[in-house]
Amino acid sequence: MSQPIRVVFVCLGNICRSPLGEGIFRHLVEEAGFAHQFVIDSAGTSAYHAGEAPDPGSIRVARNKGIDITAQRSRQFKRDELDRWEYIVAMDPANRRNILRLVDNDPEPLRGKLWLMRNFEHEEDGSGHDEGVPDPWGGGPRGFEDVYAIVERSCVNLLKSIRQARGL
Ligand code: 4NP
Repeated sequence: MSQPIRVVFVCLGNICRSPLGEGIFRHLVEEAGFAHQFVIDSAGTSAYHAGEAPDPGSIRVARNKGIDITAQRSRQFKRDELDRWEYIVAMDPANRRNILRLVDNDPEPLRGKLWLMRNFEHEEDGSGHDEGVPDPWGGGPRGFEDVYAIVERSCVNLLKSIRQARGL
């Protein structure tokens, strides 16, 4: 079998947004029958919540859609894993800046693999708008519903884009 396609979702705390990215994208990949072709993970640019389970708000909106993210644990994204990923999907521009800082703001090592989640929200080729997925942390339940909808739309197109690129 060919090498798995490696995708990581990155936010700040790795308890709200990127756990949803990981859970939703894995669900879509499994539904499409490609589970063995992918390695999927998530991380935070901070270690604020390292070792913690996802936020109850994210767990709830995922569970409402039949996706269980309770086994995930927050971890910090590290410079030494940059080479390990083909797709690094940042949830907002600040997360993207933090990742670029790991390589002293030299975009070259990240060329073609560092994306914003919402680049895919309405565009299968990742050419979409440069906005962030809003941070629902500390907000009300509505915020998590909105995040879920944005991340789901974006993950559907991200998977289409990868399938196109990889001939899957
Ligand atoms: P996330 O949300 O980046 O989507 O996991 C946040 C979680 C925690 C904090 C900020 C954002 N925090 O500052 O602790």
